[in-house]
Amino acid sequence: MVKTYSNCTIVLENLEITYMEDHRDLSFLRSIKEVGGYVLIALNTVSRIPLENLRIIRGHSLYDGSFALSVFSNYNNSTNKGTDQILLTSLTEILKGGVNFFNNQLCNVETIQWSDIVNVGNISIDPTPSKNKNCGKCDSSCFNGSCWAPGPQNCQTLTKLNCAQQCSRRCKGPSPSDCCNEHCAAGCTGPRAEDCLACRDFQDNGVCKDSNLYQLVPNPHGKYSFGATFVKSCPLCNGLGTGELAHVLSINATNIGSFENCTIINGNIDIIITSIYLDQFTKTPKMDPEQLNVFKTVKEITGYLWIQTWPDTMSSLSPFENLEVVQGRTKRGSRSLVVSGLHITHLGLRSLREISDGDVFVSKNSELCYTDAKHWQKLFKSPHQTVNIEGNANAATCALRNDTCDRKCTVDGCWSPGPSMCISCRDYKHDGSCVDSCNILEGEPRETAMNKTCIKCHPECQPMNGTATCSAPGSANCTKCANFKDGLFCVSRARSVH
Ligand SMILES: *[C@@H]1O[C@H](CO)[C@@H](O)[C@H](O)[C@H]1NC(C)=O
Ligand SMILES: *[C@@H]1O[C@H](CO)[C@@H](O)[C@H](O)[C@H]1NC(C)=O
Ligand SMILES: *[C@@H]1O[C@H](CO)[C@@H](O)[C@H](O)[C@H]1NC(C)=O
Ligand SMILES: *[C@@H]1O[C@H](CO)[C@@H](O)[C@H](O)[C@H]1NC(C)=O
Ligand SMILES: *[C@@H]1O[C@H](CO)[C@@H](O)[C@H](O)[C@H]1NC(C)=O
Ligand SMILES: *[C@@H]1O[C@H](CO)[C@@H](O)[C@H](O)[C@H]1NC(C)=O
Ligand SMILES: *[C@@H]1O[C@H](CO)[C@@H](O)[C@H](O)[C@H]1NC(C)=O
Repeated sequence: MVKTYSNCTIVLENLEITYMEDHRDLSFLRSIKEVGGYVLIALNTVSRIPLENLRIIRGHSLYDGSFALSVFSNYNNSTNKGTDQILLTSLTEILKGGVNFFNNQLCNVETIQWSDIVNVGNISIDPTPSKNKNCGKCDSSCFNGSCWAPGPQNCQTLTKLNCAQQCSRRCKGPSPSDCCNEHCAAGCTGPRAEDCLACRDFQDNGVCKDSNLYQLVPNPHGKYSFGATFVKSCPLCNGLGTGELAHVLSINATNIGSFENCTIINGNIDIIITSIYLDQFTKTPKMDPEQLNVFKTVKEITGYLWIQTWPDTMSSLSPFENLEVVQGRTKRGSRSLVVSGLHITHLGLRSLREISDGDVFVSKNSELCYTDAKHWQKLFKSPHQTVNIEGNANAATCALRNDTCDRKCTVDGCWSPGPSMCISCRDYKHDGSCVDSCNILEGEPRETAMNKTCIKCHPECQPMNGTATCSAPGSANCTKCANFKDGLFCVSRARSVH
């Protein structure tokens, strides 16, 4: 769970918290703000479940067909141990689905006004009075005495029952000026569609919008829905083992087109003999090696990457040069990355920065230089991951071929020759390549250096000579504005006064 949910703000599907005992540190749950499906909290004995930042449960799927929040049996009768508090202090809306609580010994939950939170669904709260428990009382400042735990910070926040009549849905307080925009869910900080705590339908670049965009008309500004967010390109494609590729053996000439423009592949990639050569059995034609370049947009593979056959005309794995992460959520055996039996001379995986889980096997590639076990260990997330590098070109052969790293690389080495293939840069990184310096005082466009990386100054910054043009990215960090200054920001036009 720690691996799945740490730093996660939006859970697209369901969140299930079960069998957590008292010694578990659940603080990683604090980052979660939205759940798309349901939340199940059952069979735990840990004393507190901290979900203080969860604002909204959408209920796209429901537990037991009815419940968006189901909390039961968080108590062990034989040990008398159980959960005392579930801190849902930010939870103000459940879009769809009901709530049920039973067989718990929770404190304060009986004070919660669920009708403020639930929109459509049954509310079934069996408070199981906690006879033997010393539950603290709600703070006296809590509205109508409703709280999740003692202390003023744990009062229930009402966003519906206590609104002015004019409000169409939710509000941030009782006055008519406190009404939220109709596209808001959970509440708001102000009246506009960009002030919502969460969006009822879709969020596009910080603004809540409705979903009535499903029409077959050409739309040059069209975006795709990904969970409850609009994105410009569809970022998630099915890999082998998922969706329509669930039972497909390998990437091949017939299915490779489905990877066009993919950035995240949900599943695995297997490139084996039937990928490239004709397969009589499944009537799959031979693949044109050029087609492999479809993978150039891929940044992440959630499963494994397995390459056992490769076109002889390609000297590196350049189609995967933008691949950053192999998650290894699914593996073959214990392995999440296999490159074996190829005639490549270098890997060229210049963007790879993480193998989240699983072992690496880069072996029996007789002409392969630039393999160093130390590179791989830096990409691992756990001490149990291993790397096997055997039977590749030996150091003497590589030295003879003059296969050495560019002088702009650090001693960490490189993936291939050239300044764009360094594991890390000796001086600065500029557009994925190592450079001696950034365009700070001269050169177009002017840049600033942050963490040894060159970053462009905002276009509204006036290019300076003899001094830096900006101190950081963004229009608030220019040394001088090219056009106008509005508060902290450089802008192209002066604001007109209405
Ligand atoms: C979560 O984010 C913090 C800060 O960005 C980082 O230090 C930490 O390693 C991240 N944790 C995980 C498990 O990714
Ligand atoms: C209750 O706790 C006891 C002792 O730790 C354990 O053996 C038992 O499985 C627990 N019962 C349940 C229902 O979790
Ligand atoms: C605890 O006891 C109650 C009442 O006897 C029973 O309904 C419930 O199933 C028991 N809970 C567990 C986790 O065994
Ligand atoms: C509420 O519960 C009743 C009785 O169990 C059921 O008939 C009804 O469909 C439920 N309503 C919703 C919205 O789930
Ligand atoms: C607060 O509690 C009172 C008395 O129980 C009740 O009449 C009133 O409707 C409650 N207010 C809200 C907003 O629920
Ligand atoms: C090639 O791809 C097609 C379409 O995904 C699939 O039906 C076929 O089984 C695949 N062949 C092999 C050998 O993987
Ligand atoms: C891929 O992206 C290019 C450029 O944005 C676009 O022209 C093309 O139609 C896209 N292809 C698919 C299948 O989405």
